[in-house]
Amino acid sequence: MEQMRIDILTALPDLLTSWFGESILDRARSKGLVEVHVHDLRQWSTDKHRKVDDYPFGGGAGMVMQVEPIHRAIQQLKGERAYDEAIYMSPDGQLLDQPLANTLSTKGNLILLCGHYKGVDERVREHLITREVSIGDYVLTGGELAAAVLCDAVIRLLPGVIGDETSALSDSFQDGLLAPPDYTRPADYQGWTVPDILLSGHQAKIDVWRHQQAMERTRQRRPSLLPPGEDGSAG
Ligand code: ADE
Repeated sequence: MEQMRIDILTALPDLLTSWFGESILDRARSKGLVEVHVHDLRQWSTDKHRKVDDYPFGGGAGMVMQVEPIHRAIQQLKGERAYDEAIYMSPDGQLLDQPLANTLSTKGNLILLCGHYKGVDERVREHLITREVSIGDYVLTGGELAAAVLCDAVIRLLPGVIGDETSALSDSFQDGLLAPPDYTRPADYQGWTVPDILLSGHQAKIDVWRHQQAMERTRQRRPSLLPPGEDGSAG
């Protein structure tokens, strides 16, 4: 398996560098499974104050990130290696869900562009990126947290990142269902007991029980995840 590489372009690199130094991602990095590079967009600014934004044509509140530094950054990176995608983190984008995380985890090299202020010059979106991704229907002050969320969801899927190879596959959403409940010792905590079936040692029955629990939980909490007809509606 080739190493994955993610290049993040941001005007606020400090927001991300400390975050990537910790957590599961650091483990993934030290195992040589992924490289994450955070770049300060200001290094590609041609302005003497290293500015990367300007007032919007036509007036209005807020600043707009300029096309030139972003173009120069992406051109330089693309000159160094091939990229599968250049993704702009934006509330207007395709919603990040487990299937999209799975798809992105199969890619080799990714560029993630974080917007700030009001957003980016529309020509960035027209000419320089392959996809826009949103992490939810709410507006953040910038794309950095969204890029961190995307990286986490993608990197933990890379083979070898999570200790137990099967655990990423039994996650909520991975089979389209929420995960069943888990318990650990003690089997009885002040009268709060663990379902007998989990203590029975019958693995096949336990698997059936877990699937039923996953179905039931999904039906109760997120029926829209179920195929039509299984969500309790007329379908
Ligand atoms: N930038 C600002 N809000 C965002 C969101 N919800 N998802 C991705 N990027 C964003």
